Amino acid sequence: MLYSEKVMDHFSHPRNVGEMPDATAIGEVGNAKCGDIMKIYLKIDENEIITDCKFETFGCASAIATSSMATELIKGKPVSEALSLTNSAVVEALDGLPPVKMHCSVLAEEAVKAAIIDYYKKIGRDTSELEQMVIDCESCHAHEEEQTHKAAE
Ligand code: FES
Repeated sequence: MLYSEKVMDHFSHPRNVGEMPDATAIGEVGNAKCGDIMKIYLKIDENEIITDCKFETFGCASAIATSSMATELIKGKPVSEALSLTNSAVVEALDGLPPVKMHCSVLAEEAVKAAIIDYYKKIGRDTSELEQMVIDCESCHAHEEEQTHKAAE
């Protein structure tokens, strides 16, 4: 089978879907490769613990499954831990994704980082380094694409 059981489960029954009107922070990102979009809402308490999170994704099955798993992985965790969540950790928790769908998992990681940047800005913390990380990620997609085109020529 192309998708693992966990991917199918999170795709057909995504956890934490929806809007959060009273979110502490919101992150919204687009996937440079396919144009899909993900929005994540975080509720963060005074001890910097993510007490709740929700997501909305306009994307493929893999984007939905990885977003769902990402929200499960960061819920109840400190912001600092959520910041180090990588797309490969999310994919691993889902028992893998087909190689052609790996880029879809980047959306979840970037949305979490974007939401944390939003949170840090609200509390007046410097975010320049973090923002660089997100930008670098996008330019590396562009680079990847360039390589693919070159290879195809
Ligand atoms: Fe766009 Fe999967 S094809 S996120």
